[in-house]
Amino acid sequence: MSTVPIEELHAVRDLALKAVSEANADGELEEVSRTYLGKKGQIRKHMRVLGQLSPEERPAFGKAVNDVSTEVEDALETRRKELHAIRRAAALTDPHFDPTLPGTRPASGTVHPLTLVDWRLDEIFRSMGFYVLDYPEIDTEYFNFEALNVPADHPARDMQDTFWINDEHLLRTHTSAGQVRAMKEFKPPFKAIFPGRVFRYEATDASHDHTFHQVEGLYVDREVSVANLIASMKTLLSEIFGREVEIRLRPGYFPFVEPGFELDISCLVCGGGGCSVCKQSGWVELLPCGLVHPNVLRAGGLDPTAWQGWAFGLGLSRLVMMRYQIDDIRHLLSGDIRFLRQFEGTGLE
Ligand code: DAH
Repeated sequence: MSTVPIEELHAVRDLALKAVSEANADGELEEVSRTYLGKKGQIRKHMRVLGQLSPEERPAFGKAVNDVSTEVEDALETRRKELHAIRRAAALTDPHFDPTLPGTRPASGTVHPLTLVDWRLDEIFRSMGFYVLDYPEIDTEYFNFEALNVPADHPARDMQDTFWINDEHLLRTHTSAGQVRAMKEFKPPFKAIFPGRVFRYEATDASHDHTFHQVEGLYVDREVSVANLIASMKTLLSEIFGREVEIRLRPGYFPFVEPGFELDISCLVCGGGGCSVCKQSGWVELLPCGLVHPNVLRAGGLDPTAWQGWAFGLGLSRLVMMRYQIDDIRHLLSGDIRFLRQFEGTGLE
């Protein structure tokens, strides 16, 4: 006599299908699924009977259990889709739903104005044959000061208050720290800019921040001239501002250049009338520069009787402020989304 409980299996199937057709929510369908299809569910548990069946009976009954499982799974899926369609139809006929309303635009980021101007500078200098290099923000006293002709007891070290990490390491106070690194890395003649963040331990105000951006420029060749330096600076400024900008050149003192200059531009935030950015003077120091000091060339392994260089240290943060008429340097790294939103869709052609 057969012990195959096929009728019982079919009775369970009928119950399951009835429960599926009567379910009115996804949660109820899940409950039905658990009760009948789960590992210990009403259908699966028939598998345990297999061991008691004769070897001839087993395959057919095993298949019957699987068929019933599939049938119930299909019914569940069909009912799930039905319920979804019912909910959707209800939502569409809901008087509070207005399909003609505009959608919500996903928030997208914007390119930071510092990045925009930096990209443009990279492009301008690349087109003039310069490499664009990247040097460490944490550097040594040697590259930041010593190699740049600023010995330990030199008063110029007071010009830049330094964040020290330990006796040897510091946060670079200027991108000039890359100059000797570049001389050691490349065979002259070469031209390079190295943009980056610099750090100063000092009180902040509208025109000073403890962290800001510079772009260093360095050109080493057999013979270089101040005229060429000034011409390159003018090209840079007119490219960035899209017009001629008024400049003035003053002698400036930096231990790593001789002669050294301060190249100022007339303040574009106030138009030269005087404001907090230009400290009421109408001029902004933007581009200190000069001819590389022989001691610096020597530190870079170059013979100063055979090689010359010019260098500049562009205040990128200030340049961005001029370009976009930003009246407080602290906005730049504030991370204030309202400030950054103003640059949405802005590009530098
Ligand atoms: N590193 C100087 C500073 O941050 C700026 C500077 C002056 C850089 C003259 C130069 C230079 O390359 O030639 O104050």
